[in-house]
Amino acid sequence: MPLHILVLGGTTEARRLAESLVAMDGIKVTSSLAGRVAQPKLPPGEVRVGGFGGAEGMAEWLRAHHVDAVIDATHPFAGTISFNAASAAAAVHVPLLALRRPGWVPVEGDRWHVAESLAGAAELLPELGRRVFLTTGRMGLAAFAPLDSLWFLMRSVDAPEAPCPARMEVLLDRGPFSLEGERELIRRHRVDVLVTKDSGGDATAPKLTAAREAGIPVVVVRRPPVPPGVRVAGTPEEAITLLGALLP
Ligand SMILES: NC(=O)c1ccc[n+]([C@@H]2O[C@H](COP(=O)([O-])OP(=O)(O)OC[C@H]3O[C@@H](n4cnc5c(N)ncnc54)[C@H](OP(=O)(O)O)[C@@H]3O)[C@@H](O)[C@H]2O)c1
Repeated sequence: MPLHILVLGGTTEARRLAESLVAMDGIKVTSSLAGRVAQPKLPPGEVRVGGFGGAEGMAEWLRAHHVDAVIDATHPFAGTISFNAASAAAAVHVPLLALRRPGWVPVEGDRWHVAESLAGAAELLPELGRRVFLTTGRMGLAAFAPLDSLWFLMRSVDAPEAPCPARMEVLLDRGPFSLEGERELIRRHRVDVLVTKDSGGDATAPKLTAAREAGIPVVVVRRPPVPPGVRVAGTPEEAITLLGALLP
């Protein structure tokens, strides 16, 4: 019987991890996607789409599908699923590890303002600028909706839904983004403040360089914590090494 690994996905790293795992002998991989993106890039191996029905639903799924280990490779800001995975894995005594790309670190010349949440970021904005490049995704836009005096360039993969800021231009696009492209967006739209989650990784980092070059402030929303006791790998390769140590 091959070992059945459940990869909670929705990120580039999760896809890379699934690619590596399917190439290994004796392993069966199922990737799980939330189903938020209309046309996701699918990983190799088996794929299931949609919520489990909370931690209990996931525990049931792990049992029914004889899962041997779970790798939570979801986005660093997908906090609910990570805590559900921790409860579910503990309930059915299945090893769990998290794959989290490292967060970004400011360098000389950066003008970062750290916020604890999207609401905290929205509070900071009126002091920092008038023309906002908002790159926190289409979920949670309600936090920015009351900011009538500010203009927003909002970039996301799929179109946002109300409530949204009144003065907002939507740019539908999916990373990776180039430094040249980010410079051009900031220049053309006369952006004077950038808002981002601390997602980490290279694909969306050029906006930070472009903001530094332009001398504009950046509001960086801090990550939610990883559930206590969960071992964390920074790369798919590290996750596979850690998996080897966790499995019998
Ligand atoms: N948050 C972000 O900024 C962000 C950015 C890029 C990609 N993503 C990806 O988008 C997905 C949803 O993000 P989110 O912030 O809405 O998550 P979330 O708040 O942590 O999860 C909300 C609910 O969505 C379902 N869910 C989330 N991820 C799932 C997965 N991989 N497979 C099956 N069900 C999943 C679960 O439903 P049930 O309780 O019914 O199981 C979960 O309780 C994540 O998988 C994440 O990797 C998120």
